Amino acid sequence: MTGDPVLYLLGTGAQPVLNITVAVERAQADGWQVCLGLTPTAARWLHPYLPGLEALTGSPVRSHYKLPGQDDVWPTADVVLLAPATFNTVNRWALGLTDSFVVGYAAEALGRGIPTVALPCVNAALAAHPQYARSVETLRGAGAHIVLPETATAPGQDDTPEFDWALALSSAYAAYNATSRPV
Ligand SMILES: Cc1cc2nc3c(=O)[nH]c(=O)nc-3n(C[C@H](O)[C@H](O)[C@H](O)COP(=O)(O)O)c2cc1C
Repeated sequence: MTGDPVLYLLGTGAQPVLNITVAVERAQADGWQVCLGLTPTAARWLHPYLPGLEALTGSPVRSHYKLPGQDDVWPTADVVLLAPATFNTVNRWALGLTDSFVVGYAAEALGRGIPTVALPCVNAALAAHPQYARSVETLRGAGAHIVLPETATAPGQDDTPEFDWALALSSAYAAYNATSRPV
């Protein structure tokens, strides 16, 4: 327990998750206690770094649901940031398919009224799939802040946008401030 507000940073299986340590360190420097959750794909990619990430955050990195009867190992979230968010995770979240801890937590966060932000990392070809726009609309309707980066190129090109960790973090801080400091 640090007394700092708690940011749940939930990462999924897109290339920028390999730089998630940078985001953890930035958020900590900005005064946040960070708890790191990963989808099984992201956890597999980061497997060699998980002990270091646990040492950095001071909490277990979670990629699976706890067992029945186990206590929660994380403090309560003040804000949830899903970043980078894959096409798969955005769609599963919108459809309520909560077989991964990360998606299950994000789904519950909306119902609990915890400010929840996602920065997808989805190329234009996948973003053109009809379910994607429906998912974004559904999630926004449920109160999620889905930050969509500009895609400069047409579907079919290698056009996954540059991932903007600073935007992801500032969007999470803004969502937290909007709910915790009403004007
Ligand atoms: C090297 C690599 C990079 C990938 N990058 C992305 C990406 O940027 N966006 C995306 O939606 N999927 C990407 N994928 C595909 C996802 O990893 C895949 O859909 C996976 O099932 C996502 O699972 P998750 O959403 O549970 O993490 C990538 C896959 C690989 C192997």
